Amino acid sequence: MLVSNREPYIHKKSKKNEIVCKKSIGGVISALDPLIRKHKGLWIAWGSGNADFLVTDTHKKVKIPPENPCYELKRIPLTKKEIENYYHGFSNRVLWPLFHLFIEKMQPKETYWNTYCKVNKKFAQNILSEIGKDDFIWIHDYQLSLVPFFIKQRKPTAKIAFFWHIPWPPWEIFCTLPWRDELLSGLLQSDFIGFHTFSYVSNFLNCVNRKPGVKLNIKKKLIHYEKHTTKIKHFPLGICYSEYHQIAHSSAMLKKAAHLKKLYGNKKLVLGIDRLDYTKGILNRIKAFELLLDENPKYREKIVFVQIASPSRNKIEEYSLMKKEIDEAVGRINGKYRNETWTPVMYFSKEISLTSLLAYYWISDIGLLTPLRDGMNLIAKEYIASNNENTVLILSEFAGASEELTNALTVNPYDLHSIARAIKKAVDMPSDEKKYRFQAMRQKVKNHDSEWWYSNFLKEWEHVYA
Ligand code: F6P
Repeated sequence: MLVSNREPYIHKKSKKNEIVCKKSIGGVISALDPLIRKHKGLWIAWGSGNADFLVTDTHKKVKIPPENPCYELKRIPLTKKEIENYYHGFSNRVLWPLFHLFIEKMQPKETYWNTYCKVNKKFAQNILSEIGKDDFIWIHDYQLSLVPFFIKQRKPTAKIAFFWHIPWPPWEIFCTLPWRDELLSGLLQSDFIGFHTFSYVSNFLNCVNRKPGVKLNIKKKLIHYEKHTTKIKHFPLGICYSEYHQIAHSSAMLKKAAHLKKLYGNKKLVLGIDRLDYTKGILNRIKAFELLLDENPKYREKIVFVQIASPSRNKIEEYSLMKKEIDEAVGRINGKYRNETWTPVMYFSKEISLTSLLAYYWISDIGLLTPLRDGMNLIAKEYIASNNENTVLILSEFAGASEELTNALTVNPYDLHSIARAIKKAVDMPSDEKKYRFQAMRQKVKNHDSEWWYSNFLKEWEHVYA
């Protein structure tokens, strides 16, 4: 049984009042959907679309995906107040900024916390009403940290694993959370917890170690707390390599890529793809590109920076503010350098289809992914899986993926000069070096795909009960 806040598919009413079904955006969905399609099971999540409950049965379930229904999704309805206080409030105005090290953006409020508890309990009740004797419950991400506690309260024998998809911060940051103790107590009712990287595991153990009543076995990565033991391990999440590789070589994608290539001509194309989020460092990236053009006239008219950003969480002030700053920066650079034949920055603030996305990957010369902090960044892996050996990946050293993709050009995303230097290096890189770096990264992405991640996680989880 898979449980997450975001549902994999959303049913919405179109302008013509027809019901349309769309796949959701985000790392959790793109990694888990191919897995559950293959291995089957039940997915439980918040039903967030305005037509979601028009297509569900009396148990609030629907078979998905629509073109090839192969697993069941159970949707949990949330009230407007719950969405505001649990999702926009505690999840995204408190935990999200704090765990990405933006303490100053955290807005802790009692109402947010109380509703977070209430909604986590609601998730637990829905899980309990579905669970069979031997079922494994696999809960995902920071929105649901208390669900293990609410399940174990009613069913102490339930088998629960948790995967934490965002960074786990150092104690000095974590300790500023007013409900740090309660959050850990909830999470520690899981039997097994996975993180993307070793540094998140070590931050987590360090935080847990400060909690009264906890006993640690560092060597075995076991945490003993209130008669319960939790095993911790890092498992870097992978993507479904074969799916991306296959679509990237389909005729529809190649046709789209050929069309786009004509539009951009012979200019070097630098590509940024993200959810529109302040953690992704989009503004710094644009400023770094400006710096490159300011200081290196020889690159002008020869490079285009394409930034595609899918809108996200736009009810939160920080996000609309950032969107405005990005719009202004793009306008400034284009105003300064644009001429009849060259627009330096092409910025698209919209969702694009998977085929178009892969076509952009394919025609780009450089992938520029510079989050200020990112749990993993699966886009870096998608970029490699869908691309050819003539491309260079520039990756933030603060993305979880940089611990694996060591052949990318790594940058400090706070240092604009370091990003500008890396773009220069990538533009001028000899093809032999590009090929060598790319092949090494492709091997990693291929070997450590989502199936590898899933089977290893499951194996370790089963050991917990052996
Ligand atoms: O990977 C982190 C994450 O929060 C996921 O939980 C989520 O699917 C994704 O980012 C997108 O965020 P949201 O669900 O808030 O749109």
